[in-house]
Parts: sequence; structure tokens; C-alpha cells
Amino acid sequence: MMMQVSSAAPAKRIVFGISGGIAAYKAAELARLWVKKAITIDVVMTAAACRFITPLTMHALSGRPVWQDLWHAPDSSMNHIALSRGADAIVVAPASANFLARLAQGRADDLLSALCLARECPLLVAPAMNTQMWRNPATQRNVSLLRSDGVFFLGPDSGELACGETGEGRMLTPENIAAAVERIIWSPDHEKSATLKGRNVLITAGPTFEAIDPVRGLTNRSSGKMGFALAEAAALAGANVTLIAGPVHQPTPLNVMRVNVISASDMADAVFARAKGTDIFIGVAAVADYTPTHVADHKLKKNEINHLDLALTATVDILDELGRRTPHVFRVGFAAETQNIRQFGEEKRRRKQLPMLIVNQAQEAFGADDNEVAILDDHGFHALPRMAKTTLAKCLIQEIAQRFEQKD
Ligand code: C5P
Repeated sequence: MMMQVSSAAPAKRIVFGISGGIAAYKAAELARLWVKKAITIDVVMTAAACRFITPLTMHALSGRPVWQDLWHAPDSSMNHIALSRGADAIVVAPASANFLARLAQGRADDLLSALCLARECPLLVAPAMNTQMWRNPATQRNVSLLRSDGVFFLGPDSGELACGETGEGRMLTPENIAAAVERIIWSPDHEKSATLKGRNVLITAGPTFEAIDPVRGLTNRSSGKMGFALAEAAALAGANVTLIAGPVHQPTPLNVMRVNVISASDMADAVFARAKGTDIFIGVAAVADYTPTHVADHKLKKNEINHLDLALTATVDILDELGRRTPHVFRVGFAAETQNIRQFGEEKRRRKQLPMLIVNQAQEAFGADDNEVAILDDHGFHALPRMAKTTLAKCLIQEIAQRFEQKD
């Protein structure tokens, strides 16, 4: 049996790992989708996977040898390296709790784990397991470790599980996995296609800080990571980017013009001053909704006051006000909600009359390097898989550019 990896490989090739779990039956459908799109797949199955779906099925669907054993590679003693050389990605679907644990530990005692460890290409995993296994702190520890190692997580979804329970842990559908892989691995070509070439993009990022006295203030939890990643992605896509940044510790992205501000009122002034020439405004900043009505000149002494009432005044809603002042600007909002993200997000989108609003679960996004968001637009709710904020930013810039082009 000849191993045709690097020489005969067509433009797109995926190493498709399957680990053990009921969801392995969906691997057949995923293989079919990829083959239909002329993507070459080299299937690698763990021993447990072979108990759920046969290598023969995967061989018939992929039309290629199916690999299982680190020690029985017919033509190559370097199978653990050779198979993923030149591949566009390794995608493991389903990824069981056990497989994730092994991956997190950097094990190399079966072919799939060894391939993942020796890879040079992106690794994407689609977890599938029972809700308790997914929620278990051990699994969550492994997941966050893998995320920080740069592994992409596709799902899991929540819904009815094979064990009869309902909850988180269901593998994404083969269609969703295929679409996510496409988006993450192949659509970043936008960096070359410069979809926002010559467009003026204005972005707000980070929190604002509203002084109470010279040393104290009110602020919001925001690291600025998402807004800075969007600024970088917009610049890579060819836009002239101005980033109005609240107080954050983030390096200024290349080719981005940064304006530092402190308060909501400073931020509003900086935005309105540049609104006229702006094509696209992306409001990522967590702007304070209220600011102290009076700022004390001197530090308030706590021994003088047992009880402090702060009078607060509402700040200007920059995103909303910009729509009134300069209706030509294509405005994109962000909303971090702690519950009912779809309903609250859509209400906000309508109230601010936005063509596009990006929502996420607030408590999961703060300070993290990755994020899971959904896009709300006139056509509904579009969930994206969890991914690194930098990758997500590139996807979102593409989504924004597309809608901006179609706006009239
Ligand atoms: O209403 P809410 O603050 O949740 O809306 C969030 C969106 O509105 C974000 O895009 C945020 O940047 C923007 N916003 C703003 N000015 C404010 C408050 C929020 O631009 N004062």
C-alpha cells in the first residue's frame, strides 16, 4: 500500500482524526461532505473509534487508506510525522474527553495523538461527550490548556445526547464542522484579498474610566483584546484603521492609528470628530453607562464618610448617537449579555437600528484569549464556533465587509 501524502496531494488536504464515541457515526457524513468538495482526507482512527465505526466504512468513503496503528505503517516508519506534513489541518471529530486529556498531556502513544503532537498545521477538535464529562473540572482544565496552546474548538453544541440526557456535549453537525473548518482554515485568504482596501474603519475598544475623585473611578471589565484583534484584522484586510482605545495594556497593532482616551465623554468626542470620513464604525468598547455627576477635587476621606451616595449622569450612547449624526456610517455593535443573548441582543440591535450586532456570553469572554459569539442581522441569528479572538476577528471582519458591500 503506497502512502500518497506530499507528492500527489491536491490543494486541500485534511488529516481527519476520529476518536471513540457514539458521535463517530457522524464522521461518515463529514467524510462524504469533504470528499464532495474535492478535499482529500486521510483518516486516522483510535482503537476506541474502531468500536463505533469501521475503518472499512471510512476507507470506502475517503477512497484512501485508513490509518490506525503507530507501529503498523506499511511504507513509512515515520507515519506519525509524514501523514500531517503538508496537510492544511488536522480535524478530530469526534474528540472524546479521553482524547482531549491525552492531547492536553502531549501524549504520543497512539498514531492520532502522535500526529497531533508532531504537527505543523492547525488542529481543530469537535468534542462530543456526556454533559457531566464535558463540565467536569478535569475536562474544562484540559480544554482551557488546549485553547491556550492554540487548538481550535468547534462546539460542542447543546441538545439531546446519545445517553438520553439533554445538555452540552453534543458534537456539532457535520455541516457545521465543515463550514467552520472552511472559515478558519481557508477563508483567512482574505488577508491577501484585502476586502476592505481603502475603507476608513473606526473602532472603539477597552473600557472607559469615569473619575469619582483623583484616585478612584468607575469602570467596566474589558481587556480590549477583541477590539484590538479586530483593528489588526481590519488593517490586514486593507482598511485605514483608527482605534479609539480606553485604558488597556495592549500593544498597538501594526498599521493602526491609535487614539488613547480615558472617559466615555473623551471617547465620544474622539469618535464624533472622525465620523465624517468613516465608512465603518465598530463599537467594541465597554463604555460606562453612567459617570459621576460631580468629580471631587481631592481624594474623598473614608473616615469622613460612613455612607456615600454617588450621583450619576448617563453617558452618551456613542453607537446610537453616531447613527443620528452620520447615518451613512455602517455601524456594528457588540453586546455582552449574561442571559438570553439572542433576545436581548436582537432588542438592542433594533433599538440602536444596527445592521449587525455581535453578541456573546459576557462572563465567558472577559480577559480570555478566545470567544464564542453569534452575529445578529436582518436575516437572524448566526452562531460561530468558539475560537481564538485573533481568528474570530478575521472571520468577523469578513462578515462585516460582506454586509457593508451589500448594504445598498
Ligand atoms: O447598550 P449596550 O451598552 O449594551 O450596547 C453595547 C454596544 O453599544 C457596544 O457596541 C458599545 O460599544 C456601544 N456603546 C456605546 N456608547 C455607550 C454605550 C455602549 O457606543 N455609551
